[in-house]
Amino acid sequence: MVKEVWIDPWSSDLPKNYTKTIKDFGLERFNVNDFPDPNMLMRRGFVICGRDLKLISKCIKEKKPFYVLTGIMPTAEKLHFGTKSVIDQVIYFQKKGAKTFVLIADLEAAATRGLSLREARRRALDVHLPCYIALGLDPKKTEFYFQSENDSVRNLSFVLSNKASLNEYRAIYGNPEPSRIMSSVLQVSDILHPQIKEPMPGIIPVGIDQDPHIRLSRDIAKRAKEFKFFPPSSINHKFVPDLSGSFKMSKSEGNSLFLLDSNEEIKRKISKALTGGQKTLEEQKKKGGDPDKDMIFELFKQHLITDDNELEKRIKDYKEGKILDSENKKYAIELLQKYMEDFRKKYDEAKKISKELSVSHFKSSLNLL
Ligand code: TRP
Repeated sequence: MVKEVWIDPWSSDLPKNYTKTIKDFGLERFNVNDFPDPNMLMRRGFVICGRDLKLISKCIKEKKPFYVLTGIMPTAEKLHFGTKSVIDQVIYFQKKGAKTFVLIADLEAAATRGLSLREARRRALDVHLPCYIALGLDPKKTEFYFQSENDSVRNLSFVLSNKASLNEYRAIYGNPEPSRIMSSVLQVSDILHPQIKEPMPGIIPVGIDQDPHIRLSRDIAKRAKEFKFFPPSSINHKFVPDLSGSFKMSKSEGNSLFLLDSNEEIKRKISKALTGGQKTLEEQKKKGGDPDKDMIFELFKQHLITDDNELEKRIKDYKEGKILDSENKKYAIELLQKYMEDFRKKYDEAKKISKELSVSHFKSSLNLL
């Protein structure tokens, strides 16, 4: 396999040429008409492709059982606003009747990032889980687990470890370190374990960088004949630039919004965001701005303006020079501050739930390293 077409799930070199990626990896284009009541990201072109999507759309339409599953490494101390996009997808399928699984990839974080299991648990319970719930995930209808505590997932990973060769890991990941191999076998097991008792289709919303895991899961699912697994479906959303327009995740700290950002932080970050405006006020009024190069419109489209008509009108007005960057930014700040205020309340509530979960749902913290 040639270097350009590798997708490395642990790197931040994000593939931006989607048409090529879709073709090279045999992905399927997302068709919004296949999914009832599509959410904003689906309607507005952020969801672009996936695997075996028709299977899931059939389950929704025929009310057949299926599941949705996502996992997160609890490395970050605060969650990127973009996390909302993944959870929005999970929520969509949860509302459409999917059994829902959310896992904390603490073993993967230990293996690939050197984070202790104890610290991973703290971050997950303080930040990640409450944020997920505050974003709208229904905790009563969601099964949460830590990789380190799920015996069936871990056992399954040993059973499945002989279903792929080192050469395949090499073809998929380039240089497969033992920590990466262990993490990916475990991730395959995360993805397939809901089917141990009863095989059913499942959908995994992921950034396109995680597609290697999906391909491996699908291959292994087909080979593990004893389980009769459905190869998992996936749904991929686009990568989005930070507020400066850059795709380099490592450099975007100061230019990215985070859930729970304060009013001042919001104001500061939005004020210096990249816009599609002209150099001077006169020029902008005459020629109009370009919403496609504007990071404020990115936010409006993905998160802040839910009404399609309102969005369309704003885009039109911006293109015609009727709306200036300063007005746009002012509106974004207003909407974001309101969103965050509401989010913070939900987060405080959700923290209580996450505390209860930590007692009732998860085993004691015995054996935590
Ligand atoms: N590898 C994912 C990450 O880097 C976390 C993860 C573990 C995951 N198991 C999963 C994601 C299963 C989706 C499905 O964050």
